[in-house]
Amino acid sequence: MSNRMWGGRFATGPDAIMAEINASIDFDKALYRQDIAGSRAHVAMLAKQGIVSFEDAAAIDAGLAQVLSEIEAGTFVFSRELEDIHMNVEKRLADLIGPAAGRLHTARSRNDQVATDFRLWVRDTIDELDHALKDLQEALLEKAEAHAATVMPGFTHLQTAQPVTFGHHLMAYVEMIGRDRGRFRDARARLNECPLGSAALAGTSFPIDRFATAEALGFARPTANSLDSVSDRDFALEALSAASVAAMHLSRLAEEIVIWCSAPFGFIRLSDRFTTGSSIMPQKRNPDAAELARAKTGRIIGALTGLLIVMKGLPLAYAKDMQEDKEPAFDALASLSLVIAASAGMVRDMEPDARAMKKAAGGGYSTATDLADWLVRVVGMPFREAHHVTGRIVAAAAEAGLPLEKVPLATMQGIDARITDAVFDVLSVDRSVKSRTSYGGTAPANVRKAVKAWKRKLEKDTL
Ligand code: ARG
Repeated sequence: MSNRMWGGRFATGPDAIMAEINASIDFDKALYRQDIAGSRAHVAMLAKQGIVSFEDAAAIDAGLAQVLSEIEAGTFVFSRELEDIHMNVEKRLADLIGPAAGRLHTARSRNDQVATDFRLWVRDTIDELDHALKDLQEALLEKAEAHAATVMPGFTHLQTAQPVTFGHHLMAYVEMIGRDRGRFRDARARLNECPLGSAALAGTSFPIDRFATAEALGFARPTANSLDSVSDRDFALEALSAASVAAMHLSRLAEEIVIWCSAPFGFIRLSDRFTTGSSIMPQKRNPDAAELARAKTGRIIGALTGLLIVMKGLPLAYAKDMQEDKEPAFDALASLSLVIAASAGMVRDMEPDARAMKKAAGGGYSTATDLADWLVRVVGMPFREAHHVTGRIVAAAAEAGLPLEKVPLATMQGIDARITDAVFDVLSVDRSVKSRTSYGGTAPANVRKAVKAWKRKLEKDTL
């Protein structure tokens, strides 16, 4: 049997394989809410413009409300023969209200319909992600505040570099996530134009009011060019690229969590809630949630590159290739949402081992820069000379197997006679972090200030 929604000129139905490759209902049923909202806005506009009667519009609207409740109640029967969500909804509407249902598709096409539905879906999802990212920022802020003065080693090249505070380290992620939210919001603002009424590709001869449907669906305005409207998937690409960057950040956090809770580091402990055991090694506590957060970033980035590749060769306007936009976007944004929730859970769960962190912070001559800075500030050496003198003291310390603050004054004075015992003031890791008060530096006082400033930003929603 040919498809009754478009089968007028078709003598036979599709080959089974054709039906299989063509049907999108298995995944695009996720758009049912947006599809029905779009149709209700469309038919209300058609009635207002005198294109359909108010009676028919009322019947269509009531029928669509009924379809919505059937889908939400789980009683709706989706059919692959009807290809996609648009035709499944319309067919059920016809069953419910009869031939008047056929008037709904006046002055529109599935091309502008799907573009509208998908935009609405991406917009809703961006709003949910923004909320989840805010929750993650709150989790980080709580932990950072509690550990504003907890000292840990800061790394470059994963080599111990200078002591930092754990709070400062966590606040770095608050900044990253703030930018991620900004990227999603930028994408949302550009997305927020309504393609509905662009019809198949050329617009329509009916006297429709695209501004009215745009407004009814919460869009800022209608899109300006009908060809662009039905062939543009930038909004999905932008959401996926914002998602990829956010996931990349959370993957870095996950990687740090994996490193921090490894036995040689022992910086943090994750509870049983976020670890799993090994089936053979009884001592193991594996940070699986962090590992999976790291791994899911791969498929999120994959979704972005996949859709870019789908789009890159398409002539204007719509092509069925574009049906392949949905699954990767659904999967990637759902994955991101899971990764965000797991990250927030782990951040709230993690307990740092302050002693282990501090011990590691003092290793690797991490206060050597403090010593060089002291030589500049107190002795008045040029920094290059101070760097050289400090290097010699570090070498002497290494030779004697001592940390910097345990090197005897006499040894230091043997290298430069101008050094006094006041130098010991700057050699402890606590002194080191406390002294880093430059704007954006790691000092505990800075961390507390940054936490306060971010809490205010979150409260006022001024990112
Ligand atoms: N299921 C289709 C999609 O997701 C809807 C648009 C179909 N348009 C068409 N001309 N066949 O892209």
